[in-house]
Amino acid sequence: MPSCLVCERPIEPFLSFGQMPLADAFVDPARPADEFFFDLAIGLCEGCGTVQLCERVPDAYMFHDAYAYYSSTSVGMRRHFTAYAADVRRRLHAVRAPFVVEIGCNDGILLESFAAAGIRHLGIDPAGNVVAEAVRKGLHVQQAFFSARMAANVASAHGRADAIVAANVICHVADIHSVFDGVQRLLGPAGIFVFEDPYIGAILDSTAVDQIYDEHVFYFSVSAVRRIAEMHGLELVDVAPQAVHGGELRYYLRHRGAQTPSAAVADWIEREQATGLAGPRAYRQFADRAGRIRDELRATIVRRVASGQRIAGYGATAKSSTIINYAGLGPGEIEFIADVTPTKQGKLTPGAHIPVRPPEHFRSHYPDYAVLFAWNHEREIREKEAAFETQGGRWITYVPAVTVGPPACSASQA
Ligand code: TMP
Ligand code: ZN
Repeated sequence: MPSCLVCERPIEPFLSFGQMPLADAFVDPARPADEFFFDLAIGLCEGCGTVQLCERVPDAYMFHDAYAYYSSTSVGMRRHFTAYAADVRRRLHAVRAPFVVEIGCNDGILLESFAAAGIRHLGIDPAGNVVAEAVRKGLHVQQAFFSARMAANVASAHGRADAIVAANVICHVADIHSVFDGVQRLLGPAGIFVFEDPYIGAILDSTAVDQIYDEHVFYFSVSAVRRIAEMHGLELVDVAPQAVHGGELRYYLRHRGAQTPSAAVADWIEREQATGLAGPRAYRQFADRAGRIRDELRATIVRRVASGQRIAGYGATAKSSTIINYAGLGPGEIEFIADVTPTKQGKLTPGAHIPVRPPEHFRSHYPDYAVLFAWNHEREIREKEAAFETQGGRWITYVPAVTVGPPACSASQA
């Protein structure tokens, strides 16, 4: 039985997917045999309340010089990161000449705002191709995995940080104790550590089963983050919800005793206790709902294909790998998936091997239905592809439920 990455107690999965590919490992059609598969399963540690993957993939398999995800592919995310930088800068207003470190800076979408304001910064990211993009923008970046040892080196080379920031990164790192140890060493005495990740409460509320994949090792709750922080002399002092990636929480931490926690921390923890996030029942129910959504999505698609209708996908997201393979879909059902990312185009999706095409291909080959795999960018994509609907095309979505037809834009849009 796997053991908890936080407290080492044994964990049992509440949802197992069987053998799955790596969600961002797009396949070169010339070399389809090179794919890596592993047992994707997610469990709750009833000891410390942390939700996590039961089997982990080595970091180097996922974060390398051909990392498929570039953060700057959406207008909504660019807007979000500008606001994120402004939030951190507000919290640094009293600091003269601050130093900001970002863990997992990708193509520099967040650091750009700090750099534009003349703020001393350092990005750390293990994926060479996205680091090259950040360097091209004139940002200071070091290609490395963040760890306790690395953090100590940064502190001695550059001094301690006034802010350490991260977005969709901390939940990716299995060696969570090394990360928090590193933060503890690198963060100045009055510094702030800010990170945001998909929120387990939002994943359960919307049955977003596709958030589960190899790179998402942890599915944090406020209670879990507070507990992990405490293990490293840090304290959770504030929490703020974010309407990206289907519902995230932004966590603010300082050295223990440096700031009185806001009322929001206690409120979130109380809400989590009331909704049973630390117990197994909520997760068993989630797994049941996820199975029903999978069956319904598959039936919805298969039925239409059988009657001669054409179906494509939109957004070759990492999330789509989970739902596509979980629902047993392939190129026989989904003709292609449109995606704006040049490095994904011309490749095949992981496992299912559905071809990825540029959005122009979508526009010249409108299907009858398009599955919105980038459902977290619904507003942006539906606006951009309004002509698809005008000429009679219909969107299929599956979060929070399977719907066919123009779905109502929800509030939680990037
Ligand atoms: P994400 O949900 O992890 O942000 O991934 C979004 C994916 O969808 C990424 O591969 C880029 C793609 N995408 C498009 O192709 N067109 C768009 O308009 C948007 C917003 C995203
Ligand atoms: Zn645990």
